[in-house]
Amino acid sequence: MAPIIYREMVPGEEQVVCDMVTQVFNEFVASDYGQDGIEEFFRFANPEAMKERMQSNGFVTVAVENDTIVGMLEFFSPNIVALLFVTVRHRGIAKKLLAQSIDKARTSNPSLSKLIAHSSPYAQPIYQKMGFSNTGNATTENGITYIPMELSLERKNA
Ligand SMILES: CC(C)(COP(=O)(O)OP(=O)(O)OC[C@H]1O[C@@H](n2cnc3c(N)ncnc32)[C@H](O)[C@@H]1OP(=O)(O)O)[C@@H](O)C(=O)NCCC(=O)NCCS
Repeated sequence: MAPIIYREMVPGEEQVVCDMVTQVFNEFVASDYGQDGIEEFFRFANPEAMKERMQSNGFVTVAVENDTIVGMLEFFSPNIVALLFVTVRHRGIAKKLLAQSIDKARTSNPSLSKLIAHSSPYAQPIYQKMGFSNTGNATTENGITYIPMELSLERKNA
């Protein structure tokens, strides 16, 4: 099995990353959403919108296996996990994307104390296994159902 490389997305990769997100979203998440929710999701998860967010303190960590992007996590400043998608599941890729993204976020913000995520219903148990807790009930906004969750981080230099 080829090693998986974790690195920051570089400009120009937005399209291929969003193609992977689209494939996984359609397979695992879209069935929980109505048409309005699907449209709302793709207003956010598209290459142009992602490029814009990268210019306002966001970054994307990707997992690459055999030159193919098999996972991604988008972090949006100051502390938001905006997207987390993996094509080859159950191999610890989401966990590593999260750990690497926390390390990177802390280089610019050493006092980062928590992350927040709006989990899809599908991913809620997985976020829980990665240490997140629910901070509220499932909510539907613009056709998207999500569970608000957060992960407390130990202060690096505390
Ligand atoms: C959520 C997702 C990113 C997880 O990716 P992954 O690489 O398979 O996750 P990992 O292998 O790192 O697993 C993390 C933990 O969750 C557990 N887990 C993984 N899939 C699970 C599942 N379907 N049900 C329950 N637990 C699961 C793993 O066992 C692991 O826990 P452990 O460390 O205690 O063993 C992936 O399933 C996905 O892309 N889902 C569809 C998109 C989605 O819903 N994204 C979230 C949008 S908010």
